[in-house]
Amino acid sequence: MNIHTYEKAWLIAAMLLIVGFIATITYGSIGLGIAMVDDEGGSIDPNEVFDHEEFSDPGVQQVGEDEYEVYVRAQTFTFVPDPIEVPAGSEVTFHVTSPDVIHGFSVVGTNVNTMVIPGEISTMTVEFDEPGEYGLVCNEYCGPQHHEMSGQLIVTPEEDFDLTELSAEAPDEVATGEEIEVTATVTNGQLEDLDTTVTAEIGDVTLEEDVTVAGDSSEEVTFAVDSSDLGEGEHDWTVTVDDYEESGQVTVGTDEDDENDESDDTTDTEDDNE
Ligand code: CUA
Repeated sequence: MNIHTYEKAWLIAAMLLIVGFIATITYGSIGLGIAMVDDEGGSIDPNEVFDHEEFSDPGVQQVGEDEYEVYVRAQTFTFVPDPIEVPAGSEVTFHVTSPDVIHGFSVVGTNVNTMVIPGEISTMTVEFDEPGEYGLVCNEYCGPQHHEMSGQLIVTPEEDFDLTELSAEAPDEVATGEEIEVTATVTNGQLEDLDTTVTAEIGDVTLEEDVTVAGDSSEEVTFAVDSSDLGEGEHDWTVTVDDYEESGQVTVGTDEDDENDESDDTTDTEDDNE
C-alpha cells in the first residue's frame, strides 16, 4: 500500500500529539504528587474532634530527628493553631480535619492543598527547604465568613526552631518580710534534652538557674526573694528562657487586711511559641 508522504507526516504528528496528551495527563496525576482525599489518613467522628487526643489541642509534635507531625483543625472560620510554626529541612506531615463543615487547607504558593471533610483526616507530607512565611487559605465555601478564613504557616530556620513553652506564676501581693516566690515552668516539646538557663528578675534582684529539660517533659524552677530586700511598693518581675519571656507585678505591702484577703492570689501567665 502506498501512503502519500503528506498523509504519513500528518499521521505521525497526530500520534505524537496523542502520546504527548497521555504523557501530560500521567505527569499531572502522578508526577506532581496530587492525590484525592481518601481514608488513608483515617476517619474520625466529627462530634468527637474536640475530645480527640490530638485534635482537642492541635499543634506541632516532633516524632523523629527531622520528622514532625502537625495536627490542624479547620473550623468555621479559622485554622487552629494559627500561626503554625515548623522547621525548614524537615519532613512535616499535616493531619487536618473539620468538626463542622467542609473546608479547604491550602498553603499558598505550594502544592499543599486539600479538602477537609468532617469525618475524614486529610494527611499530607511536605518538606520546606527554605525558611519563609506562607498564607493558609480555605478554598471551599464554608459559610458567610469563608473569605476571612485564613492563617499563617511560618517555616523557621532549623537552628532557630524549638518547641519550648514558658509559663510563670507569682503572687500579686505579699506582706513585707514574706518571701516572693516566682515559679517558672519550662516545657520542652522536642525529643532532645533542652539545656538552658532560666533567668528571673524580681525588682532589682536577678537570679539564674541552669536547667535540663528532658525531651517531651517540663521542669519547674522556683525563685525566691525576701520582700523586705525590695521594699514596699510595686515591683516588676520577669522570667526569661531563651527567646521567651513572662512578666508581672507584685506589690509588697504591710496592710494586714490586704494580706489576709489577697495573699493567696496569684497571677498566671502562659505563652506558646512566639
Ligand atoms: Cu472554611 Cu471556607
